[in-house]
Amino acid sequence: MTGEPNTESRAATKAAVLKLGGSVITDKSNPETLDTETLDRAADAVAAFEGELVVVHGGGSFGHHHASEHGITTTAGSHDATGARAVHDAMRRLNDAVLDALRECGVPALPLHPLSAATRDDSGELSLATDVVARMLGEGFVPVVQADVVTHVGRGVTILSGDELVVVLARALDADRVGVCSGVPGVFDTDGAVIDRIDSFEDVRAALGGSDATDVTGGMSAKVEALLGLDAPAWVFGLDDLPRFLDGESAGTRIG
Ligand code: IPE
Repeated sequence: MTGEPNTESRAATKAAVLKLGGSVITDKSNPETLDTETLDRAADAVAAFEGELVVVHGGGSFGHHHASEHGITTTAGSHDATGARAVHDAMRRLNDAVLDALRECGVPALPLHPLSAATRDDSGELSLATDVVARMLGEGFVPVVQADVVTHVGRGVTILSGDELVVVLARALDADRVGVCSGVPGVFDTDGAVIDRIDSFEDVRAALGGSDATDVTGGMSAKVEALLGLDAPAWVFGLDDLPRFLDGESAGTRIG
């Protein structure tokens, strides 16, 4: 199942992978609070897209808060099913809200919950049922994959972030472009200006700090490092630039 989707029914066109960051669609300072205005704007932009699209979303105030309360990170696991469910159920509520917003705009969106479709081995390597995503695309659906907890050999459950999902899905589906719609208009340099293009992590190491709100998955620095590992070009941009990205244009900071 790892990374080898059955592509028999897929169109010749390549898919785009879009992450909606938790800070775009939720109010990150208030637990389990949607930002309905921005979520609706994002859904509108997605509805105008023509082609195959996989949507991934982060945790925002639904995931991070429960994850830190129960001490679960991408590497620190937990065998406490109550904690695992607290994170997973909150992420499902957010996933439902994203699906509802997309349906309102006429997007044929279907959910994928990684807790039931992914695991990590003892080295942390992820297996994700990307064949399910490929089949959904082949049938004309828009898969909406939530960040989640996943079972991890020897550790119980750990967090699977939206950023890791984007990378794994982009590779498995051989995506042609990747977009990370974030709460900021791009990656900032040390003067606070949006960097146009990043080709190597060393060039931006000094400029990349952590994330200010509760974030168990590493903030911008981890995002950039992971996106640099992709064959497909990636862009990090704010919601204002989402229509540009979906139109095939450059938006915010190009990575790789
Ligand atoms: C976090 O995923 C997932 C959970 C805490 C369950 P992300 O790290 O991708 O979320 P955002 O986009 O930063 O909120």
